[in-house]
Amino acid sequence: MQKTIELLRKNDELKIIDAELDIYLEIPHLAYAEVKKKDGGKALLFTNAGDKKSGKKFEEPILMNVFGSYKRCELLFGRTIESVADEITKLLHMKPPSGFMNKLSFAGELFSLKNIFPKKLKGEGACQEIKYLGDDINLHNIPVLTTWEQDGGPFITMGQVYTQSLDGEMVNLGMYRLQVYDKNHLGMHWQIHKDSSHFFDQYQKAGKKMPVSIAIGGNPLYTWCATAPLPYGVNELLMYGLITKKPAKLVKSLTTPLYIPEDVDYVIEGWVDTAQLKVEGPFGDHTGYYTLAELYPVMEVSAITTKKKRVYLATVVGKPPLEDKYMGWATGKIFFPLLKTTVPDLLDYHMPENAGFHNLILAKMQPLYKGHAKQFMHAFWGAGQMSFVKHALFFDESAPKLENYEAITTYALNRFMPESLFISEGILDALDHSSPETLVGGKLGIDLTKAHKLEAPTLLRDEELFLKVKELIPEATGLHQFMIRTSNPITVIAIDKKRKASEYFNNLISLSPYMRIVVFVDTLKNDISNAYMLVWRVTNNMDAQRDVFVSGLMVGVDGTNKNSLDGFHREWPDDVDCTQSVVSALKLRGIWNLEESLNEQYQL
Ligand SMILES: Cc1cc2nc3c(=O)[nH]c(=O)nc-3n(C[C@H](O)[C@H](O)[C@H](O)COP(=O)(O)O)c2cc1C
Repeated sequence: MQKTIELLRKNDELKIIDAELDIYLEIPHLAYAEVKKKDGGKALLFTNAGDKKSGKKFEEPILMNVFGSYKRCELLFGRTIESVADEITKLLHMKPPSGFMNKLSFAGELFSLKNIFPKKLKGEGACQEIKYLGDDINLHNIPVLTTWEQDGGPFITMGQVYTQSLDGEMVNLGMYRLQVYDKNHLGMHWQIHKDSSHFFDQYQKAGKKMPVSIAIGGNPLYTWCATAPLPYGVNELLMYGLITKKPAKLVKSLTTPLYIPEDVDYVIEGWVDTAQLKVEGPFGDHTGYYTLAELYPVMEVSAITTKKKRVYLATVVGKPPLEDKYMGWATGKIFFPLLKTTVPDLLDYHMPENAGFHNLILAKMQPLYKGHAKQFMHAFWGAGQMSFVKHALFFDESAPKLENYEAITTYALNRFMPESLFISEGILDALDHSSPETLVGGKLGIDLTKAHKLEAPTLLRDEELFLKVKELIPEATGLHQFMIRTSNPITVIAIDKKRKASEYFNNLISLSPYMRIVVFVDTLKNDISNAYMLVWRVTNNMDAQRDVFVSGLMVGVDGTNKNSLDGFHREWPDDVDCTQSVVSALKLRGIWNLEESLNEQYQL
């Protein structure tokens, strides 16, 4: 971490904040606001952290937003993300060489591969300079942040969680949030689809306790590797070796059989009693909504070790854009060659940051036969963590760049027709709150590889159209049309919902000469002219099986919050919002400096 701080400082990517600040809300709120600035603001180093509630002051600084810009990401990778992806592509296509020079370069590549395997060192590491065992264990001595007001407690947000299979053959590194319950217990939020959860099942069946070692800090690449969606059974530290060309150097934990990188800043070791689960959460999550309290495994801490000069690394998740935007960008690029092994005709893909990654993906492909795009949809919905994707748009090779939102949306709307829609069912991210039941729900694929030429509807001004809508839906409170120069303009209608959205849609059918795609959102908390946040809201709140309606050329989409009117009986979570009293207090002290326009744009 010290080297990282130096690297960021030298590259003018670090801001040091010496003001006395609370680990409860204040520090995370500042980090949240910073990363929303142009180009992700700066990484922040808080040197004077305290816990106002207990009066404790922390010796160590807290480092945040390290990955929070494209530039910082590449600095921390030590190379361009493109070059990592290219190297993976090359490895996947390695063929036995012909000719002497080719053989030499092939041998060189193979030789460099030996560095990707982690190396186990004898003895102790720098991460074990200070040891806390028995009664000296106290998680409250680490400056663990409470990010949001409704959070169930403090959470470690950048923990590298090292686990192994029951037979010790497979090792896994994953990043899962960890709730601090008391001085020696942590909640393990590994979701049911994740590798450590599969290991947990093995220990549970065998009636054994499961060892876990959690590292914080060290080279930030360990942290990125922990988020990498590598297949079950593959140790994510191999990725570290591949990127840096140096093996990760590991030492054995003091009280578990697990090996951790020797240079990390903290190690929290312990054992999970597989017979016991405990309520974990709520937690303001990267969906921009709170994930509700649920039962998860608990670890009893058996040792904490640290470096003498340690730095606590943390992130904050909530409404986009945040640090995970940049981490996800690197993941998307690096995993493209691996995804191509499942779908070779994939030309490009992109996950817009404002759709929280799994809620929307844009993909470009080379359609070769009838039904090819549908085949892709099924392949995506069956490929590892890609199967969490809820909504996927497929384009042919002549589509504009996927990151050019204006151009790609125009292209999509000019060739869309209701028959482009394909609705199916599949698994969902454990964080999804929209579907009628957890873990499974609607999937929406839109095949835009074929062009349909539609006449554009008759255009009315927003005010005129709103008057007509209001006559049919008295609960409508506002209307805004987007992309009006395309054959399928999008009409967003805000409503004070008193009925199911499908009923509102049916009421509007007589207006079909004027409208094509109609999106309903709640009046409360939505700005119907803010496309960025509308995409966030609607892709989060939709379940395609329930929330898409078609009548002739008109398509309705229900982006409202669901309740019993919709036959929805799960609890609907709250938005993740900043605590305004904390923001005001920071403003008064002159520490909060986010422009008001960004505050509004990202609905803090
Ligand atoms: C900031 C951040 C927080 C995350 N929190 C969790 C979490 O609490 N639980 C979880 O299962 N996955 C979480 N993830 C996603 C996992 O890290 C990711 O799916 C990873 O590939 C899991 O590793 P595994 O497949 O080896 O289990 C988070 C990712 C990021 C970037």
